[in-house]
Amino acid sequence: MIKFIEEQKLFQIDTKNTSYVMRVSFDKFVEHVYYGKKLEKADFPYKDKIISFAPFIKETGYGFSLCTRQMELSFFDSGDLRDTGVRIKNADGNSVTLFYYKDYKIFDGRIEFSDMPYSRNADKTLELIYFDPVSNCELSSYYSVFYDTDTITRYMTIRNVGSEKVTLESVIACQVDFAGGEYDVTTLNGCYYIERMPETVPVACGIQKIYSKRGHSSSHFNPYIQIAEKGASEYAGNVFAMNMVYSGDFVSQVERTYENDYRVMTGINPETFNWILGAGEQFTTPEAVISFSSVGKNKLTQNFHDHVREYIVPKEYKSAKRPIVINSWEAMYFNIDEEVLLKYAEKANELGIDTLVVDDGWFLGRDNDKTSLGDWIADSRKFKDGLKAFSDRVHERGVNLGIWIEPDMISEDSDLYRQHPDWAIQVPNRPLSLGRNQLVLDMTNDDAINHVVNQLKETFKDVKIEYIKWDFNRSLSEVGSLNLPKEKQGEVKHRFTLGDYKMRKALTEAFPDAMFEGCSGGGGLYDMGIMFYCPQIWASDNTDPVWRIKIQQGSTICYPLSVLSAHVANTKSNKIEKGLDYDYRYAVASGAVLGYELNITKFSKETEALVKAQVNDYQDIYPLVLDGDFFIIDKLGKKEYGFTLVSKDKKSFAVFYYNYGRTKRTKINVHGLDEQLTYNFMGKSLTGKEIMQNGIELPKEAKLYFTTRSKN
Ligand code: DGJ
Repeated sequence: MIKFIEEQKLFQIDTKNTSYVMRVSFDKFVEHVYYGKKLEKADFPYKDKIISFAPFIKETGYGFSLCTRQMELSFFDSGDLRDTGVRIKNADGNSVTLFYYKDYKIFDGRIEFSDMPYSRNADKTLELIYFDPVSNCELSSYYSVFYDTDTITRYMTIRNVGSEKVTLESVIACQVDFAGGEYDVTTLNGCYYIERMPETVPVACGIQKIYSKRGHSSSHFNPYIQIAEKGASEYAGNVFAMNMVYSGDFVSQVERTYENDYRVMTGINPETFNWILGAGEQFTTPEAVISFSSVGKNKLTQNFHDHVREYIVPKEYKSAKRPIVINSWEAMYFNIDEEVLLKYAEKANELGIDTLVVDDGWFLGRDNDKTSLGDWIADSRKFKDGLKAFSDRVHERGVNLGIWIEPDMISEDSDLYRQHPDWAIQVPNRPLSLGRNQLVLDMTNDDAINHVVNQLKETFKDVKIEYIKWDFNRSLSEVGSLNLPKEKQGEVKHRFTLGDYKMRKALTEAFPDAMFEGCSGGGGLYDMGIMFYCPQIWASDNTDPVWRIKIQQGSTICYPLSVLSAHVANTKSNKIEKGLDYDYRYAVASGAVLGYELNITKFSKETEALVKAQVNDYQDIYPLVLDGDFFIIDKLGKKEYGFTLVSKDKKSFAVFYYNYGRTKRTKINVHGLDEQLTYNFMGKSLTGKEIMQNGIELPKEAKLYFTTRSKN
């Protein structure tokens, strides 16, 4: 799985279908030599590469320039004049950085992070150890192997082993260099309400980067970056991708030089990061996950899906049935009324919906978005006998209870802010911008974190709660902390994210019976960092099914359906044909984690029967949503999308097809079935081979969507 080949000084990391190879050159530098289809045996002897005028170090000679070779890590201003991943300001005051390879270790498993999310249960880890004699720092670069999912994680730890402090100015998590060829880059871009729209463009000379400076990964860019060889399709061609297990400011970028050298990097955004490393201190970066497929993009998608399900989400939720919720937000906004909610609970129980979620508006004075964040105490105007009595009544009606929180935030109009105005993120002498009328809690401050955690523990003490929705409704601005000294203000962004993780750990441990759902003004925190604590995430406030198809399409490029929370709601849409409404909405939401978000007490008898049937129908679908392998329906037009979910044992499958562009389509492809197995499908008994060869004839009425599945 990981070996060192002495003769050529090569490290070879193998997963089930891929190999990753590095070479130690001149006993000092680690070059990247291969990432691709699995190799029998790596054979990459050192060769000079002579490029006129490139800077080189005397001892290596002209044939080895850090500027033109493919390197595992890149160091600022030491002859590598591309964008570099590691930059440390040393005690001399300059930032020239150069680490030399020293040694390696191979060990079982991995080092688990205590303060950050990470991929659990690695098979094996390679640690490459470097040293920079000027900054006096040691650097360990870690590669952990997840054999079956064809994924490798990377991160580094930097230790100041000298006696003077240094400043970390840039410490990326992962870099992959390669040379030659033509590529496309795909990223997931968007904004509030239109999250994760995939965009694919050719990789051009210069740097194409996506990033966040918002204090959360954000709706604007997702950290995922995919590089595909020109012409690669869903089921053919070489393609690889990186993604961060991180929720704060990140950068993911691809650089191409005119000589066709490529460098892909991801990590903490250096623009908003500056970390003082005192003598004896160490810093660990968040980790990145990389994967490669030689058989097209769909396999890469599957690798990331499997990685998230196997190693990122809390293991107790990997295959656990998710609640089907009725969420109060779009039905009642801040007008939380317990009598009305109890009617929702009764109706939910009749319909088979299992969890009532009380969204925003339940706590002290929270009648609008200008107030009360930070005062996590149930409002006695809204819950006359308290939260416990309410929860008991909900449960008496046969339904579980969920509740909404936004613990990283603080309102100016709150008791918490009146008592602790210093607990908001702020800088001196500047007005603070509001976002959604609120400020941000200083998550670098343990006192603030502990206060909120303890208050929530107290408020939810003895209250039976099975689900907690964790929201995060604004980006950070005027970023500073009164909790940290002047020279550490450059650390606030990353410390904020670590504080958020600290709180997520504390609250998920405090409420082990509750499943946490992530959320951020729709889907502004849709990343593997959050998935480590929250097995599902609200994908978008946009519940229009046509938009949802697109949002779900983008999101599933690298995140599994089992993390995607999707609700049947009532948002107006001029794209939906009359009469198809709830069926259509269900056809979209049932391709993910189904829920409802509308006034279920006002349904007609007809709609009640319809929803009951949907909930019942979903019982057959959700195992495939949780565990199934994803096979995209290829060769579709721009305004069509579809996929087949196939159970791991291949015995059952479900097909989802959407057509929002009136494309004339009579047949769709199916992939991933067992050729030999016989399926009971659309009223016939057919082998997987027959179904895949013939495709599926779409019924005439399937103009907008079509879903079907095999029957047992
Ligand atoms: C934004 C979320 O995306 C919504 O679902 C809802 O929870 C509101 N916040 C509540 O303020």
